Amino acid sequence: MKAVIATCLLLLFVTGVVAVEWKHSAVLDNNFLVLWTPGERDVMFEIQVKTLGYVGLGFTRDDGTVGADMVIGWVDNNGQLHLQDRHVKNSSKDPQMDSSQDYCLLLGYENKTHTVLRFSRRYDTCDPRDLKITNDTMQVVWQYHVEEPVSAAGVLPDHDAIRGSRPLYLVQRDAQPRPTSRNQEAEPPLQTWDILNQQVRLPKGQDTLLWCRVVRMPNIDHKHHVVKYEPVIQPGSHDYLHHMTLYECRGDQAQLESAAKTSGSVCYQPNQPSFQCNTIAAIWSLGSEGFNYPPEAGYALDPHAGPRYYMLETHYMNPQMDAFISDSSGLRLHYTDKLRTHDAGILSVGIDPNWRHIIPPGQPEVVSEGHCISDCTGHTIPNSGINIFAVIMHTHQLGRKVRLRQIRSGEELPPIASDTNYDPSYQEYRKLQKPVRVYPGDHLVAECTYSSKSRQAITLGGLTTREETCLVSTLYYPRIELSLCYSLPSLPTVLQSLGIQKLMQGSSPVKIQEPQKLSGMTLEERLLSYDWETSFQSFQEATRSGTFKPLCWTSKGALPGTDSLEVHYPRILRPYEEVNLPCSKKPLRNKLSMLLSEDEDIGAPVDPDSDETNAVERGQLVRSKVSRSSDGPTGGSSSNRSLPFLLISSAILVAIVGHGTFR
Ligand SMILES: *[C@@H]1O[C@H](CO)[C@@H](O)[C@H](O)[C@H]1NC(C)=O
Ligand SMILES: *[C@@H]1O[C@H](CO)[C@@H](O)[C@H](O)[C@H]1NC(C)=O
Ligand SMILES: *[C@@H]1O[C@H](CO)[C@@H](O)[C@H](O)[C@H]1NC(C)=O
Ligand SMILES: *[C@@H]1O[C@H](CO)[C@@H](O)[C@H](O)[C@H]1NC(C)=O
Repeated sequence: MKAVIATCLLLLFVTGVVAVEWKHSAVLDNNFLVLWTPGERDVMFEIQVKTLGYVGLGFTRDDGTVGADMVIGWVDNNGQLHLQDRHVKNSSKDPQMDSSQDYCLLLGYENKTHTVLRFSRRYDTCDPRDLKITNDTMQVVWQYHVEEPVSAAGVLPDHDAIRGSRPLYLVQRDAQPRPTSRNQEAEPPLQTWDILNQQVRLPKGQDTLLWCRVVRMPNIDHKHHVVKYEPVIQPGSHDYLHHMTLYECRGDQAQLESAAKTSGSVCYQPNQPSFQCNTIAAIWSLGSEGFNYPPEAGYALDPHAGPRYYMLETHYMNPQMDAFISDSSGLRLHYTDKLRTHDAGILSVGIDPNWRHIIPPGQPEVVSEGHCISDCTGHTIPNSGINIFAVIMHTHQLGRKVRLRQIRSGEELPPIASDTNYDPSYQEYRKLQKPVRVYPGDHLVAECTYSSKSRQAITLGGLTTREETCLVSTLYYPRIELSLCYSLPSLPTVLQSLGIQKLMQGSSPVKIQEPQKLSGMTLEERLLSYDWETSFQSFQEATRSGTFKPLCWTSKGALPGTDSLEVHYPRILRPYEEVNLPCSKKPLRNKLSMLLSEDEDIGAPVDPDSDETNAVERGQLVRSKVSRSSDGPTGGSSSNRSLPFLLISSAILVAIVGHGTFR
């Protein structure tokens, strides 16, 4: 723990003094703003909360807060800062103190209305009480209260804490490019295209609404590039919007034009007109700030070659069914005719939505895979390859993990993207830290892992929410013809996985002939009566090892020569093995840590179950190490008066460390 403090102060010296430009931010609730910047080994956070009581931020992998890793802090009446690394064992109780304090307080203050705390931590603190921050979806939890703990021991005030949680990407997250004075001059102003709803009303007594509105592209006579987009949220509507997706539409232009003249309708009703809107052009979801294309690519708006109509699908929710009036939110696309080097495209890899995609009921882990075979990439990707810079994963309610795997001549490369804590209610572009190249002949696998424990009946693939899907859409450049690269288990594979050897010829509905004991059963009866409990493993193996039918679609239709193939799982001669570096804290023992020490058990092994015994003293540890200079919680007229003090104190401390080390 001494070591932690020492490194904290060094970090403070490096980061606390310089005005921080945050890479990301998210409004967690109307009173709670979190800002953060993922660094090389640490992530730095700042929370700005409209309360003068205590504030807390945490992370968990589940939906609830059970097992959450939390940091709780406050500014007390003497102006002292407190920051405590805690964890939640039981969601109905307050978070308990960790025996290892792994958060570094960098600065903090209170003004008349807000408490602000800045701190950092390692991605992996090596404390089993803390959660690793990874590329996975993180459930971010927050908690705050109008009061602060009465003592530094930090027994939190009873009742009335405000809590919430929300899934977020903390690491592979798109960031707004910072305008610098240089590129502002060089860049011509962007034009905007607002695609807004027109006073959509949520019907009384309904908690969700999917609204679809067709729009015509802006009046342009030559090609432009969309370089970024963002949500336009009508004040007061924030709580009712779940997601908005913009699709490219193809089909009868006259029908599209007449649809574009209306203000929209409820989506996916029967007997809707025959145009197809299924290629995603832009997507916004809860927690998203929009999307920025990388400087080398843009999304083409081309009145001569591209689609002229688009459809905005808005998912409204109103769980409380309260007085929702009407909404006119939507998306704002920014475009320019200063074209970028590449047209960006979207390539979807996955399982064709079809009943042959079978998910047995009652299983904690069912793996389904959709293949983009090497013949498809071989015929469509140029020799120089395409560059995937972002992906978006899509399953329905049962999805728990999603990966996009890449296999090149028998060798499996690291996954292009992977989420082992996938949350179906959070679908956002995942910006890769650097683009991943895909070459002709590469084989891609979209792998989805479902939990069907909640289902008593079988789940089949399909488009409705009750059915399942497994899709990974990738954003890449330069744009190629291939847009959908799916697969579907072949009929023999499906039959084999259900223990069926032979079907009766010409029967309708199709009946089973062999084996004898199933003879006469229909396929549907077999699906319903199958004993998943005991036969799940053989089902799963038969599905994986059987043949599948590849489906490679370009905007002109199926890729010739691929539509009649039946293919096997590719041979993987060199599998990919994840490197798991052993976790080690690197204690920095020096004069400084001795000087600052109040706690004697440095280096004591972390026993995850013995925290409670002496946690109370530990909780006080951070107190008084970084003290603020302003005068009490309500006196702060200047919000950053603590900075000069921090600057001086950390400079002195660094001097001590330097002296101690280099003497
Ligand atoms: C959580 O705490 C409550 C209240 O003390 C208790 O009733 C419940 O059994 C606890 N749950 C677990 C999982 O320990
Ligand atoms: C207090 O600080 C918060 C967060 O920095 C800021 O948004 C707010 O405007 C400040 N209020 C006052 C009265 O200075
Ligand atoms: C996220 O993924 C990238 C690329 O696979 C990897 O280099 C990076 O270390 C990962 N980040 C974390 C925090 O796991
Ligand atoms: C914080 O300090 C900087 C530098 O001293 C100053 O320019 C800025 O106005 C201060 N901000 C506030 C909100 O007081």
